[in-house]
Amino acid sequence: MMALLVKIERKEIGIVFILLALLSLIGGVFFGSLSALQFIIPGFMNDFPFFKSRPLHVSLVVSWIFLSAIGGIYYYLPRYCKLPLFSNKLPRFHFWIFLFTGIVILGCYIIGKFGGRKYWEFPPILAVPIVISWILFGFNYFKTVARKVGEWPVYLWMWGTGILFFLFTFCESYLWIFPYFRDNIVRDITVQWKAYGALVGSWNMLVYGTVIFLMERIKGDESIARSRLSFLMYFLGLTNLLFGWAHHIYVVPTNPFIRNFAYFISMTELIILGRIIWNWKSSLTAAKKDFYLIPYKFIVASDFWILANLILALTISVPAINIFTHGTHITVAHAMGSTIGINTMILLASSVFLIADISKHEYSLTEKKIITGGFWVLNIFLTIFFLALLFAGAEKGMLIVEDKLNFQEIMQHISPYLTLFTLAGLGIFVGILLIAIPSIKTINKYLLQ
Ligand code: HEM
Repeated sequence: MMALLVKIERKEIGIVFILLALLSLIGGVFFGSLSALQFIIPGFMNDFPFFKSRPLHVSLVVSWIFLSAIGGIYYYLPRYCKLPLFSNKLPRFHFWIFLFTGIVILGCYIIGKFGGRKYWEFPPILAVPIVISWILFGFNYFKTVARKVGEWPVYLWMWGTGILFFLFTFCESYLWIFPYFRDNIVRDITVQWKAYGALVGSWNMLVYGTVIFLMERIKGDESIARSRLSFLMYFLGLTNLLFGWAHHIYVVPTNPFIRNFAYFISMTELIILGRIIWNWKSSLTAAKKDFYLIPYKFIVASDFWILANLILALTISVPAINIFTHGTHITVAHAMGSTIGINTMILLASSVFLIADISKHEYSLTEKKIITGGFWVLNIFLTIFFLALLFAGAEKGMLIVEDKLNFQEIMQHISPYLTLFTLAGLGIFVGILLIAIPSIKTINKYLLQ
């Protein structure tokens, strides 16, 4: 163990972040599957109830998103942007703070010590090391990119904006600890939802920057990250980050125009990202597609999921439909459809690209077959998962509005969809394992060299 820790200290820190990211992903999907089984089998693992497995699931998958995006940024800046990191020590501090705080948070959930809210259900004091680690990350990032002369490619703007806004909105999501916010329900809910909406916007900035970077690298064409369309996408993303949360605050009395405008911006952002990926895919040579087969497949899949999420977002933005859908499983489909279909696909593309690049390990034919098999298993089951949640949500929404059945009866009505959702979730778990295990093995080989 000690030998491994010493070796890690000498290796590329980006890949160490990716290792922890993949482990979080596996753990997160495991607890997601457990929570889903608890939905459909009453009393399943009673001594480890849903109120513990759900936050474990959500915290671990959110960690996957951040860790894999951060790992990419630490590697891509010096390796491909010709920007050696301002400090090579700070990323290592960042890693250890993340790991130790993460272990304490998981421990708190396991022993049932809560006290926080939504994505951060752990005791609020643990937010302090998280803020410190982001300050280290932000300081290092801006000191590094400040040396870049000439025009910045769009992903440098996106990453910087994501880092700054995460720090800001993360602190904002803790304003409830002050009585001025907590003691006024409208103020409390408004600030809370505003912060969480913008938080998702900030991690989207990290992820969208990553996909534009990858497309530029794979094609070997720097114009993608300097095009007008990419900058339009950045400004829309920024507007979405600043105002897009407005469509989350259903429960707060606001002018409908504000909510509809926010919907409109978030959808235009997705349309443009979808278009950029589509243009890239059409302009790529067969040789490049073949050489970067696995990252290519994941990026193309994310484009498909952008379209699916757009259709869903368009549908639920219609006020007459929104009455049925809000607070049902359709909201969960929207959350997981985008975090798995768009974010996870892009971050898997980046992880596979980065692992092969750092370890100089060409995936063998068998490994390629296993990961490609995992890719298909993941996408096929995700489609079933997404549809099952949509049907469960639509039926539940209609039954609630009809107001003829009680909650228990409604849940019984939708239980076949929830069973399908759970089975598909187990399929997703298998798909993720098929992708993650060969990747982790490759990282281990590299770390132990
Ligand atoms: C990469 C994979 C995954 C990601 C990124 C992900 C993400 C999320 C997120 C962000 C939420 C919170 C939704 C919200 O409250 O806004 C959530 C909830 C949940 N997820 Fe996942 N998820 C993943 C895989 C899975 C799998 C495979 C299952 C298994 C069936 C699952 C089951 C659940 C359940 C049961 C909830 C709670 C829903 C509720 O409270 O109504 N997730 N997930």
